[in-house]
Amino acid sequence: MLQALTEAGLSTGHAPFVEEARNRGDLYISESYELYSEENHEAWRALYQRIRPRWERYANPWFLHGIEGLQLPPDRIPRLSEINQRLRPLTGFQARPVSGYVPGFLFFDCLRRREFPSTITIRPADRMDCLPEPDIFHDIAGHVPMHTQKAFADTLVRFGDCAHTAVELTAEIRGRQERARRLTNIVKAMSRFFWFTVEFGLMRGPRGACAYGSGLLSSYAELARAIDSPEVQRYPLQMEWVVNQVAEIDHYQPLLFIIDSFEHLFDLVDRLERWMRDGKLDNVAPGLPEIHEDDLHDLRSFMDAA
Ligand SMILES: [Fe+2]
Repeated sequence: MLQALTEAGLSTGHAPFVEEARNRGDLYISESYELYSEENHEAWRALYQRIRPRWERYANPWFLHGIEGLQLPPDRIPRLSEINQRLRPLTGFQARPVSGYVPGFLFFDCLRRREFPSTITIRPADRMDCLPEPDIFHDIAGHVPMHTQKAFADTLVRFGDCAHTAVELTAEIRGRQERARRLTNIVKAMSRFFWFTVEFGLMRGPRGACAYGSGLLSSYAELARAIDSPEVQRYPLQMEWVVNQVAEIDHYQPLLFIIDSFEHLFDLVDRLERWMRDGKLDNVAPGLPEIHEDDLHDLRSFMDAA
């Protein structure tokens, strides 16, 4: 049995160990490091070596400090336990292996506890640029180095607080339909804000804009494009715009927003929460991300929390 699983490895879309956990309904799983195949480690090596010079050129300085601080290995997939050992003393954050998508409220609630749900599978080596879903390179090389930075880590915790505020505010609404409508709008606004900051954010740097969003930092092609391409529009982050901007998920981002600093980002999340309390997130523009109640995903997780 173990031999069969080891031979299969942990490639995105072909990882029996993870698929079985998902079918059982297990969200949290063990790291199962011994299941990685040699091809899996080779995929990490290739991804790391290719993107490293671009990190030096386009990433924000705290990300590069994070890579050093975590001693992210260039030549093999890291063990989450060794990453966590170095991360915990810095900001208290921990990466925790999961079997797949974590529904909205649960995800934000993890951040509040300084836990970061991480996938353990890795994209196949022949599909380095085409990423149908997050993998360990996106989660651990793209996200986790930023969790070594205190103001950024505190910002993620504030996101978690916002999710609780959303539940508290809407728990008082009597009609289920109106409660669902309000939550749909609030969750859409939060998801868009998260998308345009934590996933695809740019920050003002000493030499122009630099990247701090993990979707950029884990993509060789998009990282350079985000900073250099004249086809990308870049604007200082405006709350009114971001919460109403449709997120485009299946191609390179045509529009990116720039923050001044992580202290600025923290203040913006405070403002997002104030807007939520003032009812300013109750009627955001329709469009992606779609929030569905019945697929057990985002909205349901908030409704159940109430
Ligand atoms: Fe991500």
